[in-house]
Order: sequence, then structure tokens, then C-alpha cells
Amino acid sequence: MAPLRLGVNIDHVATVRNARGGALPDPVRAALIAIEAGADGITAHLREDRRHIHDDDMIRLKREISKPLNFEMAATEQMLDIALRLKPHACCLVPEKRTERTTEGGLDVLGGHNHLKPFVAELKRAGIRVSMFIEPSGEALEASASAGAPVVELHTGAWCDALAQGEAARAAHEFERLRAAAAQTAALGLECHAGHGLDFDSARTIAALPQIVELNIGHFLIGEAIFVGLAHSVKAMRIAMTEGRAHAG
Ligand code: PXP
Repeated sequence: MAPLRLGVNIDHVATVRNARGGALPDPVRAALIAIEAGADGITAHLREDRRHIHDDDMIRLKREISKPLNFEMAATEQMLDIALRLKPHACCLVPEKRTERTTEGGLDVLGGHNHLKPFVAELKRAGIRVSMFIEPSGEALEASASAGAPVVELHTGAWCDALAQGEAARAAHEFERLRAAAAQTAALGLECHAGHGLDFDSARTIAALPQIVELNIGHFLIGEAIFVGLAHSVKAMRIAMTEGRAHAG
């Protein structure tokens, strides 16, 4: 069984910083604490409107952290240019709408295929591992493979929303979509990640899907950190993931 990595998304440390302006709390300090507590990598989303992470945060993260940096970005020329200069370990391509609070849906890999394929190729030529943040559907998986992406990240948001709203039937349906999509990745030669909206319980549950090798988690961990501290929050998440993985099969 492949080990399950934890990527900690530190965007919302920057959200709190930006609420006041200035330099504190520092997302790079959060990244260092998360790594010390057991994170396998750090994820940060440089949005077009720079509402949380700023360009300088990405530069400092790349320079100061000892674990892989996963740069979440929209597939735009500006972001491509930044990624090629920054050379992070990985880029996760996400859809981006200015008005959304968070990344609402998966990337339209089918509709955007002609634009995405050369985009992915250029990142790969620079030695960057590219992942597509997609809905858990067969079509999106096939389109991702055909666009040349070695990795997909399955959007767990719809499932987590259904769980949070106590809608058991919808949650079961959404989980089945995730399970089937994860199972399909191996046949397509895709590495499988997952994320969005995960908390201790949902991370424990999804950790049991054996094809998934990485979870990217942000909002819940940073929120929990307000009460128990970031190191504690990350350590508790690692324990939940290990417990869930023990049931993989
Ligand atoms: N993965 C991707 C691709 C995302 O866009 C996000 C949100 O920025 C996450 C994971 C983490 O989601 P959350 O903050 O809800 O844990």
C-alpha cells in the first residue's frame, strides 16, 4: 500500500494577515511549523486577485521550506510565467472565478483541452509535476490523461458539503463517485490526489481509498489551529489519516 501524504494548504494564514495588512501572521512560518509537525508538502494558491497568498509569499516558500511546494494556479499566461520562474515541485491547475469564495468546481478539462495540453507540456518541460483539479468523473479523468497530466486531484467538495449538511444519501452517492474515480486512475496511469473541504472524519474515511496517495487540506486545519495550535492540528490530521489508511483495501 502506497503511503498517504499530507499537503498542508496555508492560504488562510495569509487571509488572516491580509485582513489587517502588514506581515503577520506569516504564512511561511505556518509552513515551517506544519512541516515540523509532519506535513509532507505545502500547498499555496496564488489567485489572480491575490486575495490571500501574494507573489512574494510564493518566492519565500520556495526558498525557505524543505518539503515539496505545490503551486495551485489557474491556467493563465501570467501564472505560467510565474511558475516557470519559480519552478515549484508541482503545479495544480484549478479553475478560478473572481466571485467565488473558494474553488467551486473541477477544471473543465474536456472543454479546455486544446488550451491545457500545451500548457501542461510547458510545465512538464520545466520539470514541474502537473496535476489537474477535477470532478470525480470518468470523462474528466480521461481528458486529464489525454492532456498529458501525470496527476489528478479529485475534488472532494461536493461530498464534504453533503456530509456537513447531514445529507446521507447524497454523501453516499458522492463518495461512490470518488471511489470509482480513484479506482479508475490506475488504469489510466494517473497518480491520484484528493482535497477540498476535508476535516478529521472525512480525511479518515477517504484515506481508506488505496489509490489516493496525497490529501491537500487547508481551511479546516487552519481553523482548528486557532483553538489547538497548528502543530497539534497537523499532528491530529496525520493520526486520522493513518487510522483511515489502516482500513484501506
Ligand atoms: N485542493 C485544491 C485544488 C484547492 O483548490 C483547495 C482549496 O484551496 C484545497 C485542496 C484545500 O481545500 P480546503 O481549504 O477546503 O481544505
